[in-house]
Amino acid sequence: MISTHNLPKAGALRDGFKKVGYETDLVTTDESLQDSEAVLLVLTNARLDETESLLRQAREGLRVPVFAISENESLSSTQVSQFDEVFKRSASIADVVLLGGRVIDRQRLRQLTGIIGETDAILQMLERVVQIAPVASTVLVTGESGTGKELVARGIHALSPRRHKPFIAVNVVALSDTLLESELFGHEKGAFTGAIDARKGLFELSDGGTIFLDEIGEMPLATQTKLLRVLEQREFHRVGGEKSIKVDVRIIAATNQDLRQLISIGEFRRDLFFRLNVLNIELPPLRERREDIPLLVESFVREVSEHHDREFPGISAEAMQILSAYSWPGNIRELKNLVESMVVLGPGRVIRPEDIPT
Ligand SMILES: Nc1ncnc2c1ncn2[C@@H]1O[C@H](COP(=O)(O)OP(=O)(O)OP(=O)(O)O)[C@@H](O)[C@H]1O
Ligand SMILES: [Mg+2]
Repeated sequence: MISTHNLPKAGALRDGFKKVGYETDLVTTDESLQDSEAVLLVLTNARLDETESLLRQAREGLRVPVFAISENESLSSTQVSQFDEVFKRSASIADVVLLGGRVIDRQRLRQLTGIIGETDAILQMLERVVQIAPVASTVLVTGESGTGKELVARGIHALSPRRHKPFIAVNVVALSDTLLESELFGHEKGAFTGAIDARKGLFELSDGGTIFLDEIGEMPLATQTKLLRVLEQREFHRVGGEKSIKVDVRIIAATNQDLRQLISIGEFRRDLFFRLNVLNIELPPLRERREDIPLLVESFVREVSEHHDREFPGISAEAMQILSAYSWPGNIRELKNLVESMVVLGPGRVIRPEDIPT
């Protein structure tokens, strides 16, 4: 969506965005916004008062990012902060389209996944997901327990061209060694006691889509060898099968362990590590991005109180300070659980420091 008094420039920008797949429309400031992916305002003489209702519609109605191109170099910082990005008049169309496109993708990713956070670490992570999502390369997601590895894996899939195909998550630890192999690769009739029928494995079922291998560090060495073969040759055998089966599956693996350490004690294959670690996303622990804690708390309070239909009277500043200073060994999952217990079991008034369960 482009709103402007300067139509020639706006037209060129709209064409630029269209070339890379983003739909925009030309409107003047007093029209209402249609369904589109971003709002782009060319500000002449910084007539910001005219843009107020557009900004509100974009934020509350469409929930899309708003960019400004300032013809006026002297916007105040409050004015700048109203926009997701302010471009100088001298910025090239290509730059506006590239940077603007990334902001649009990041916002879409947030809407698809519910990922919250404004710290540099999170913004960089979102940026990386946006870059990584479109290609088919294998991704290794690392980070402590509860930092959002599965959420990120789902986000990669949801932004990728595979999004209409299956996303299948497998927890490696939840299955015994023999069961894991037949789950992943399937089995033929009579392959083992109890295999009364032939069955497709998860690799076959996720053909065209994405398979998420959680807790990859726990995978038994024998299965690691088979996985390596899938990565190298894109083919495998069902358990007890002769025929080799080809699949087109994107693999995303996750671990909270230090795989290099596991390699050094012989529990993880070095060659598999290199095959998995083509693209890496490392999620920071919550204690390294404490500025996001109040945002996360607010969002989880809203979500949980809506879900349980409970009014929540709020959290005092002192109590929020304690939450912000805590070390969160269980990261976001721990924070989410704590919020849930405060909403459900809370004292029915504003939470004070002494109400925080220890
Ligand atoms: N940045 C975030 N914003 C909002 N919610 C998040 C964020 N990161 C994680 N969560 C939520 O925290 C919980 C834990 O996330 P997730 O299951 O993805 O973590 P994980 O790293 O896979 O944990 P584990 O190693 O224990 O499997 C989920 O409910 C998820 O929705
Ligand atoms: Mg997980």
